[in-house]
Amino acid sequence: MAERKEKFYITTPIYYTNGLPHIGHTYTTVVADVLRRYKRMRGYDVVMTTGTDEHGVNVERAAQKAGIAESEFVARMADAWRALWDELGLTADEFVRTTDLKHVRTVQWLFKLCKENGYVYKGHYTGQYCIYDNAYVNDAKPGDPCPDCGRPTETVTEENYFFKLSAFQKPLLDFYRKFPEFIQPETRKNEIVSFVEGGLKDLSITRTTIRWGIPVPGEEPHVFYVWFDALTAYLSAVGGPEYEKRGMWPADVHLVGKDIIRFHTVYWPAFLMAAMLPVPKQVWAHGWFLMDAAKMSKSKGNVVLPRPIVNMLGMDALRYFLLRDVVFGQDGNFSYDALVTRYNSDLANGLGNLASRTAAMLEKGFDGNIPKPGARLPQDDTLAKEAQNAIGEVLERFDKFEFSRALETIWGVIAAADKYLTTEQPWALGNSPDEESRKATILWTTAELLRIMTALAHPVLPDSTAKVWTLLGQATALGATELDGLRWGQLVPGTKLGKFQALFPRVDKTEAIERIEAMANEELNPTPAPTAAPAPSTPAGGAASAAAPAAGAEKIAIEDFAKVEMRVGQVKTAERIVGADKLLKLTVDIGSEVRQICAGIAQYYEPEALIGRKVIVVVNLAPRKLRGVESNGMIVAASVGPEGRPVLAGFHEDVEVGARLK
Ligand code: MSP
Repeated sequence: MAERKEKFYITTPIYYTNGLPHIGHTYTTVVADVLRRYKRMRGYDVVMTTGTDEHGVNVERAAQKAGIAESEFVARMADAWRALWDELGLTADEFVRTTDLKHVRTVQWLFKLCKENGYVYKGHYTGQYCIYDNAYVNDAKPGDPCPDCGRPTETVTEENYFFKLSAFQKPLLDFYRKFPEFIQPETRKNEIVSFVEGGLKDLSITRTTIRWGIPVPGEEPHVFYVWFDALTAYLSAVGGPEYEKRGMWPADVHLVGKDIIRFHTVYWPAFLMAAMLPVPKQVWAHGWFLMDAAKMSKSKGNVVLPRPIVNMLGMDALRYFLLRDVVFGQDGNFSYDALVTRYNSDLANGLGNLASRTAAMLEKGFDGNIPKPGARLPQDDTLAKEAQNAIGEVLERFDKFEFSRALETIWGVIAAADKYLTTEQPWALGNSPDEESRKATILWTTAELLRIMTALAHPVLPDSTAKVWTLLGQATALGATELDGLRWGQLVPGTKLGKFQALFPRVDKTEAIERIEAMANEELNPTPAPTAAPAPSTPAGGAASAAAPAAGAEKIAIEDFAKVEMRVGQVKTAERIVGADKLLKLTVDIGSEVRQICAGIAQYYEPEALIGRKVIVVVNLAPRKLRGVESNGMIVAASVGPEGRPVLAGFHEDVEVGARLK
């Protein structure tokens, strides 16, 4: 009988439905997906869960604002979240909605168990309440104003069910001691341990002031407090009351942001202990992606959206950046500049270049076959050893959730291979038998290194590594390759190379950033399509998952062209922008006024040489900020060659400033 594989159950938080995913949410889900792929390649039977947290007063309000029923509102939002995850290749094995019947039953069952075991009692909750917003204001004192509307709060007492959290101080502390790996990273553990040591107050777990929630059976109008409801989703995703049949519970790791660690490491294990159910093995709290040093939020207007990045650079690039640039567990700043720099240096020039160079040399020298290596020189062995050692090192780093260091190791080996090719110069070797044999050794070594690095990087870069794998003529599915069986020397001579597919075309940084920003702007503030049928409304506004307009080939009517207003302008002043090496800040006279315009031409035009020059300006573009500098229009230029060198459009005859182009 086949042995059952060891199971591994990973969860992301279930996300609130009053907004749509930004980079922060994408980060957690990407990490879960990387772990899922990695654990599968280590032979585990893996389940990954995500979902939507659909109850609570915020949803009640948002639905009201949208003029639809809560159920309709959350159904649309859950569809939008699911659709975006699918689009990004992040489809989970289970997607829980807290309005699913199976979830509702699980929450009611968990409550019943806690109650039967004597950990639930009825009491009174007193707190500051905003009668205008219908919500309790946490941590407010009598007389404090409501932080949302500023009006005075009232002291209100309501009947609630309480959970005896106070009874779990010792069991929790014992548990943390017995399972020191439960809270990760270590720094967070200390924070939680001191919180619990400080004493735990009983927790109100039902509400009578909220309507949109899971009802407490036989106790209407009591509904469950959102966190009692939400945390239980992890259990309802894998069988709820029948969890034993599925065999996935307890979770092996709950991935969460640092903002919600207390719920996961204090409340959640206490609820489970009270119900006498198995407690999760680990909670891993990562840091935040910050934008301009603040946590992203729609209300602050500083969210970064995943779709524009993926449209410009591909999902693998985003995945790589999120995992490579920030140490897992710590906060990190998100910057488009860093994203595109990494893309060009590590992906286009690193992995992409090594794969295409190797393939081209194998094509030319060996008719597209993996050659049989000849005698080895010490430098071949050194490289082989480096690659072989990387296998153990990378697995160890993945196991410790040190994603950034795992990638650093892989890219270190890729850089070593680049250097090896540069020193060995296989292209300079001739056709004598000795030289042929040397060339075969070098190229076999490089291809073998590429095969191993590709397998190791697969959990992070699933699409592009699959392309390299095919290129290397590997017939097995890369995702099903067992990393534990990976060894130096397995590349079989005589293997025919597969199809070459472009991996990471180099991009011009300024242009790429401009395009990402423009797409993000459009997604956040969509221009209504004049003729198309109205898009399904996005209840929370903002980042709707409306399908992108069909690209390219379509012809436009003359009226469409006429919408673009172009005029002859004359450059008055030009200067560089500190910290933006490709941008120039210009002031341009367009006849009726002098405009400030940023142009991505700094690498090709000296500012002084532009003064007095006549240029073509698109004058009716909405103003935008580029690297924090307002740009009010666009200078027209041709994009020349693979690097997209800008060449300013102009005239051979003298033209009047302000003249319109038609
Ligand atoms: N619904 C609750 C979770 C219930 S889990 C039982 C919730 N939802 S949330 O939509 O606000 O987002 C949850 C998670 O999104 C955070 O914990 C974190 O994992 C991720 N992030 C949201 N913003 C983030 C950043 N700016 N950076 C990184 N991750 C962040 O809380």
